[in-house]
Amino acid sequence: MYLGILDTPELASAAAARIVLAVFKKEPNSILGVTTGSTPEGLYAELRAAHARGEFTLANSQAFALDEYVGISADHYERYRNVLRRELVGSRNTGLKNENLHSPNGLVSNSAAVAAQYDRDIRDAGGIDLQILGIGSNGHIGFNEPGGSLVSRTHVTPLSRQTILANARFFGHYPRNVPKTCITQGLGTIMEARILLLLAFGENKAEAVAQLAEGPISARWPATITQMHPEVYVVTDAAAASKLELSELYQERWALKFGA
Ligand code: PGA
Repeated sequence: MYLGILDTPELASAAAARIVLAVFKKEPNSILGVTTGSTPEGLYAELRAAHARGEFTLANSQAFALDEYVGISADHYERYRNVLRRELVGSRNTGLKNENLHSPNGLVSNSAAVAAQYDRDIRDAGGIDLQILGIGSNGHIGFNEPGGSLVSRTHVTPLSRQTILANARFFGHYPRNVPKTCITQGLGTIMEARILLLLAFGENKAEAVAQLAEGPISARWPATITQMHPEVYVVTDAAAASKLELSELYQERWALKFGA
């Protein structure tokens, strides 16, 4: 695991964007795993800017969403497919074509079948090359909440109370308006991506980041499973890194790989 600690979310987003650009420079048709939430917004802005400069495009790529709410209406502003379309799809964004943005369909009643098919779709596309991730303050990645299987496949699952409260800000600050169920890539699915790029900003992520890097691997903090992944980049701001015990060591390792 490489852990980069930048002073601000802006600097961290720029560092994360450099990693994405390097992957696409080497393999321009890479398959990108994409996530939602506040955390990746700065990274997506960097990718749009790189696209505008002609340095990056998803025009020839496919993207797979990490998760989706179940039962949210097709045109809901916060439906993750709609969020990702606004952030990434189209020539004014990153060039990604709408038909090449894949997301679990949370609109249908047989969501368990949709979940199983989603894993097959990822596999049939050749697997995800680079998966962008955030992290919940409870250590979830995707909607893999504490206590779930560390080897799960894409599945339907309830959101934890903590996540519903955290996401209420996207639903007029009314927890009751947050969907209660979602389809998420499982931890086993996420671990099959060739590279993981996880971003975390703010003090409320500090405990989760400390567990992620330094805690024992445990379903209590689902993101700890990424310690078993061969190529993980974690990019944080100073606040999210504030509970790490070995930050100096991580900084040295990061500097050796990417320069100071
Ligand atoms: P956030 O969510 O980026 O909105 O903090 C991250 C997550 O819950 O995975």
